[in-house]
Amino acid sequence: MSEWKVNKKDEAMLNNFVSDQKAQVILDGKTYTLPVIIGSEGEKAIDIRTLRAETGYVTIDSGYMNTGSCGSNITYLDGEQGILNYRGYGIEELANNCSFVEVAFLLVHGSLPTQSELSNFSRLLGRFALLHEDMIHFFDHFPPYSPPMSILSSMVNSLCNFYPEMTENPVEDIDLMSARLLSKIRTIAAFSYRKSLGQPLVYPRHDLSYCANFLNMMFDSPVRPYEVNQNVVAALNKLLILHADHEQNCSTSTVRLVGSARVNLYASISAGINALWGPLHGGANEAVIEMLEEIYQSGGDYMKYLDKAKDRNDPFRLVGFGHRVYKSHDPRSRIIKAACDQVLAALGISSDPLLDIAREIEEVVLSDSYFVERNLYPNVDFYSGIIYRALGIPNNMFTVMFALGRLPGWIAHWKEMWDDPNWRIGRPRQIYTGPTRRPFVPIDERE
Ligand code: SDX
Repeated sequence: MSEWKVNKKDEAMLNNFVSDQKAQVILDGKTYTLPVIIGSEGEKAIDIRTLRAETGYVTIDSGYMNTGSCGSNITYLDGEQGILNYRGYGIEELANNCSFVEVAFLLVHGSLPTQSELSNFSRLLGRFALLHEDMIHFFDHFPPYSPPMSILSSMVNSLCNFYPEMTENPVEDIDLMSARLLSKIRTIAAFSYRKSLGQPLVYPRHDLSYCANFLNMMFDSPVRPYEVNQNVVAALNKLLILHADHEQNCSTSTVRLVGSARVNLYASISAGINALWGPLHGGANEAVIEMLEEIYQSGGDYMKYLDKAKDRNDPFRLVGFGHRVYKSHDPRSRIIKAACDQVLAALGISSDPLLDIAREIEEVVLSDSYFVERNLYPNVDFYSGIIYRALGIPNNMFTVMFALGRLPGWIAHWKEMWDDPNWRIGRPRQIYTGPTRRPFVPIDERE
């Protein structure tokens, strides 16, 4: 088992990045000087960690649009340039040259694995692929049509009941814990799909790779053995890599916040799964395909959706577009869009009407002033469903696929937070705006 390669003094702790620059704020006639932090990629932050102690003031930033929660060595995004790097490696190079397991190792351990490290990690994934047989009975008791994301978060949370030893020493056992979780979430996802169809479970096989095993567990059948198509395996590897991490997005911040109370990894990840389920977050990939199918079935008139999206009185958002960080293109969306053609061709699918509609929508949106003025570009969710659908994965499993991809990122952030000696429980402040103190009124005197 490879040693967890963390050397505290090499950890890029925030305090190592305090610059010579200073910020000043004048409050109640007094000038306060605050440190400025400049990260390894030049990102700048005003360090307000002592603001309240020094000034009595807190800051307000609904949705944390302008607020950083931590320093991190894991992923770098540049929303203006459309850059995404995992541990310093460009997403394009990783997506085109690695397997998902390699990238999962990179995110959790901080370096690309050597061949022997990758072999060891793969062996651990194979060792942990089975579910405790008692857990399998859980599937019998979820009502039919239970949302797959609800099943996934329930089952992941239950892992700590079956593997309590993995909640004692998270630091020492990160290899085992991450391999166990990465492997079992794949089995849970496939089993929940088979159960939803009333089909017999297909158990993992030791002779198949991570993605091939998942596909086989999803689609193998006693009457028609599943033939692993390497083009499909390659497409799934690429999709999972593209979803593997994205710095402090909603679900990752949820994993960190829950984990900051020193909650075990499984329960923290279960919380992240629930955050990802939201239609404004990971749930968007399923909503995109449903929108494209609706447009297709109603004759292809997508303009009414764009008009709804632009109507400030209409809560409808054009799913698959916009991003909190990317104010230019989402690099992942470009890679996925390019992969659509390759996957469809590899599968012998000459054309996909939903892809044609998606392309037309993107073309119109990118020249429409409403979207251009708001820097709304296709995000990771706009094209991903086209590929999942071509791979035979049902719409209601798309967000589960997002969770499978994002898991190594969640684990890496949970571990980074757990290992940070400066970390403390997350507990934001607020500004109270309710009624000031008033006298109590006994119930028989209330009107
Ligand atoms: C993911 O954070 C991450 O990294 C997330 C993610 C990851 O990998 O973890 O990248 C994955 O969640 C991608 C996003 C998937 N969600 C969707 O596709 C849902 C549709 N998109 C939006 O709801 C929205 O764009 C968000 C939620 C993604 C971002 O919202 P913000 O940053 O809070 O932006 P905003 O709501 O302040 O919007 C700014 C303006 C508003 O108009 P005005 O009030 O200025 O007139 O842009 C408008 C919004 O109404 N707007 C949209 C829109 N997105 C923003 N208008 C129409 N359609 C949209 N999709």
